[in-house]
Amino acid sequence: MNFYILTLFPDMVMQGLNTSIIGRAADAGIVHIEAVNIRDFSQNKHHKVDDYPYGGGAGMLMQAQPVYDAYQSVAERIGRKPRCIYVTPQGSRFTQKDAKEFALEKDLILLCGHYEGIDERVLEEVATDYMSIGDYVLTGGELPAMVMVDAISRMVPGVLSNQESGSFESFEDNLLEYPQYSRPEEWMGKKVPQVLLSGHHKNIEIWRRQQSILRTKERRPDLLEQAQLTQQEKEEL
Ligand code: ADE
Repeated sequence: MNFYILTLFPDMVMQGLNTSIIGRAADAGIVHIEAVNIRDFSQNKHHKVDDYPYGGGAGMLMQAQPVYDAYQSVAERIGRKPRCIYVTPQGSRFTQKDAKEFALEKDLILLCGHYEGIDERVLEEVATDYMSIGDYVLTGGELPAMVMVDAISRMVPGVLSNQESGSFESFEDNLLEYPQYSRPEEWMGKKVPQVLLSGHHKNIEIWRRQQSILRTKERRPDLLEQAQLTQQEKEEL
């Protein structure tokens, strides 16, 4: 899968994505991640990319032309107009479901805003999706774009090893993942739950499911409302 990140801070994005599992996947050619510097497309002799908003107000806006030309450089090179996510606090909330859906794309453009945002006219031309990573405002779209590229890449076949992808994950079935333990059996006087040492796979499965439900109830009651629980599980709650 190919990611093209349109940004004013290409180094920030690339440095954040070339390590660990995503870096390994990029080295292996399973994903291709490329930052496109919007400033390279400025037609201004000082390479300016921003200007004051009409109507007044605080801050500067990114201008349409450099953003559009950066987008076009990718679209022309790959011979099509791929989906283009504008990362913005005004977008719909990015979820695991979205990560899975975007992972089906062959090419994906992520557009990072800065300053007070981007001239609306170019967004109308290029953006197919408006996505936020949460209800808080960051200084730019780079961190959200990195978050999305990471979450989407994990869902691309071959990015996670069998070991990494085999297990239950948080948000599957709208439940959070159960607690996990490794050696030693006792640490600071705290013992690993007996059932996990029992080797009884069915009981372990039942215990983990109960723990998932309890954890979700405590930490994310909003999610639990959408989880598929059996009648017995609902009564136990
Ligand atoms: N840009 C600034 N804040 C953001 C957020 N929360 N999500 C996506 N893009 C953003």
